Amino acid sequence: MLKSLDDPKSIVRRGYDLVSAAYRADDADDGVYAEWLHALEKQVAPGSPVLDLGCGCGVPVARRLAQRFAVTGIDLSPVQIARARKLVPAAIFLCADMSTVQFPDESLAAITCLFALIHLPLEEQPALLRNVRRWLRPGGLLLATLGHRAWTGLEKDWLGVKGGDMWWSHADIATYRRWLADAGLRVEGETFVPEGTGGHTFVLATRQGSVVTAVAARNGAQPGQSARRALQASARVPSLRQVSTIGSRRALRSEEAPNGAALRSRSCARAPL
Ligand SMILES: C[S@@+](CC[C@H](N)C(=O)[O-])C[C@H]1O[C@@H](n2cnc3c(N)ncnc32)[C@H](O)[C@@H]1O
Repeated sequence: MLKSLDDPKSIVRRGYDLVSAAYRADDADDGVYAEWLHALEKQVAPGSPVLDLGCGCGVPVARRLAQRFAVTGIDLSPVQIARARKLVPAAIFLCADMSTVQFPDESLAAITCLFALIHLPLEEQPALLRNVRRWLRPGGLLLATLGHRAWTGLEKDWLGVKGGDMWWSHADIATYRRWLADAGLRVEGETFVPEGTGGHTFVLATRQGSVVTAVAARNGAQPGQSARRALQASARVPSLRQVSTIGSRRALRSEEAPNGAALRSRSCARAPL
């Protein structure tokens, strides 16, 4: 019993089961997401397959995207998924750990992962970004919320919900930029959204043709330079490329969490607590 409580993914799953309604009302508006979803909508053809990783209760992201696209949502919390199925009947929702799900290569036009990657243990996050790139069609889009400052931790009774403990794990933004580049995802737009004394970074990125090409380009590789040299260089030189900024800075509502966590289980079946 104690072990499952100590497991970050069990904490996150149980936490969202408990705080689901406190985190997001059934009729919440698009809020801080609106302009980013608009940016994505402009670039993705109607009817395209779109995946929402860590979709929560489906509101507002899947609700809005399902009006134009064929949306699949994945979430670890059975309560979040049950609400999503009720609130957004036009989309498909699966209760699963995003770090273990699989989709066919180049099968998705866009992937959203909003305030959710930061609930995975840091060591699982680069692999998820590589999967995202693999699942995206060439030129496909990733819209994600990333950490800004490195921070891993737990909050007790989050959002004032008794027993609703929550766990997060953020890398700093320079590390996320490097992970994205190394995965073959090119940042097209980035905005810091402050929250309390910290904040998060919204990123819109596109899938590059190949990881080696993307990393080589990031390092200014010359024609003829070997892929291995380009990749070695990338390990030494952090990406500090200036990116364009879209959207204005706006405070998140208090229920739009900080941080992120992880679990080790592979399904949403409740662990014996
Ligand atoms: C802060 S909520 C954000 C929900 C939604 N993306 C939004 O922005 O409104 C984070 C969601 O990610 C889910 N989540 C956390 N870790 C996950 C994992 N390993 N696999 C799938 N979902 C996960 C949580 O259950 C929760 O519903």
